[in-house]
Amino acid sequence: MAVESTYVMIKPDGVARGLVGEVISRFERKNLSLTKMRMLTIDEALATRHYAEHTERPFFPELLEFITSGPVVAMEWTGDDAIVQARALMGATNPVEALPGTIRGDFATIITENIVHGSDSAESAARELGIFFN
Ligand code: RTP
Ligand code: MG
Repeated sequence: MAVESTYVMIKPDGVARGLVGEVISRFERKNLSLTKMRMLTIDEALATRHYAEHTERPFFPELLEFITSGPVVAMEWTGDDAIVQARALMGATNPVEALPGTIRGDFATIITENIVHGSDSAESAARELGIFFN
């Protein structure tokens, strides 16, 4: 167990659907702390930097179109095992597999529009927090 910080982002669908409060509440109830937050609209250059590992994937054009389609809420959450805890709150990438009780399981139906992003490792967290909160 270690206190750590992770990057979490409410994607354009989550903001458009009025789920900002819902997502933040779930993280707060888990006893994680909101340590940084800003709202912005991601442009193509920033999206390509954030999703660098996916730029050659077949789904990247659709992901790019979606992630730049409206404002997002960028956050740093801090607490015990925050990286893996955030991923557990979010649920599986594909909402078809995400269990009820998770954010994606409760609110999403398709893989592109899956409400939230969370860093998948300590290295990703450091990199992504550096991109959005430099
Ligand atoms: P994220 O990075 O957004 O937190 O999601 P993740 O780790 O659970 O999933 P990842 O593999 O990193 O994929 C990034 C995002 O790309 C979209 N995606 N679409 N159509 C597809 O097959 C596909 N696969 C992934 C999803 O929006 C996913 O969250
Ligand atoms: Mg990912």
